[in-house]
Amino acid sequence: MSDEELRPRVGRLPRIPFAFVPTPLEECPKLTAVLGGPRILMKRDDLTGFAFGGNKVRALEFRMADVKAKGCDAFVLVNIGQSNHARLHSAACVRLGIHMAIVKPSPADEEVTGNLLLDRILGVEIVEAHGRNTEEVLDETLERLRAEGRKPYASTRERFSRLAGTIAYTEASLELRDQLQASGVTERDRVHIFLVGGTSSAGLALGGKLLGTGWRVHAVSVGGSAESVRNMELDLANDVAGRLELPVRLEPDDFDVHDQYVGGRYAATPPTTLEAIKLAARTDAIFMDPVYTGKAFSGLVGEVRAGNVGKDDVCVFVHTGGTPIIFAYHDVLKNL
Ligand SMILES: Cc1ncc(COP(=O)(O)O)c(C=O)c1O
Repeated sequence: MSDEELRPRVGRLPRIPFAFVPTPLEECPKLTAVLGGPRILMKRDDLTGFAFGGNKVRALEFRMADVKAKGCDAFVLVNIGQSNHARLHSAACVRLGIHMAIVKPSPADEEVTGNLLLDRILGVEIVEAHGRNTEEVLDETLERLRAEGRKPYASTRERFSRLAGTIAYTEASLELRDQLQASGVTERDRVHIFLVGGTSSAGLALGGKLLGTGWRVHAVSVGGSAESVRNMELDLANDVAGRLELPVRLEPDDFDVHDQYVGGRYAATPPTTLEAIKLAARTDAIFMDPVYTGKAFSGLVGEVRAGNVGKDDVCVFVHTGGTPIIFAYHDVLKNL
């Protein structure tokens, strides 16, 4: 499929601009040298600009437009205090004059730092839900907002909201493909793209297949099993492909999923994650967090060391942001 066909299909969706794009595709010469061969490039989506950036900024352009299109004036989501997603949607709601409520299942007395600190500075409503059934608290919150005369958008219950990230990264495939070409990467190069497994990786796998890029997406799990991540990606990508009337579907073999870097559970900090954070910081001076990017980057490092990436291949790490989380993990990171 050509650009001329993909662009208008995404272009017909309502959208509110927030991201500073294109983000840089940065050469990482020291990482390349230390890892012993494959050329390492970093797609700096931590630099999407708005409210400390991250991959969610591309997605929220479509999601917030959906909120507006549905005539909603309040946005409610369920997420923990250190959620990048919650921080960025809080910021977007402030910009757009939409009431924001975070139903927060993490402890009420957690340290106010990182993303939670930014939520507080933004002044959004935080509904403490620790120890309670979050769906019930969400229902109560929605009812209360309705009683106050508002029309709330329950983000975690909206199917389109789930798809927004995949739509955004299907489109971002065009940007990355152009930048790879401009960086001298040709059709003869084997290109591996590593990032956190989720809505974005589903979009890059779908977009890459659609555009015939030949790149191989490696979705690194930060929590679930490989099977659950794979099924989620297929579900998201193929729903988006259907809605945008794209002429391809994603198949299970179209991308790789790695779940061996999780370290036991979501937000665990195994030695591989900590080593990856140290490596990125002390070579090409790139900051990563332990929950998302550090973990996904440990996947790139692990796969290169295991010889699953050739010495002459090209590796792109998509840095999806999460910078504020670093400060919430100061105890783990201060003696790195
Ligand atoms: C820093 C960071 N990277 C990646 C992800 C995964 O996002 P998605 O599933 O939208 O690709 C998240 C989600 O919270 C995140 O905060």
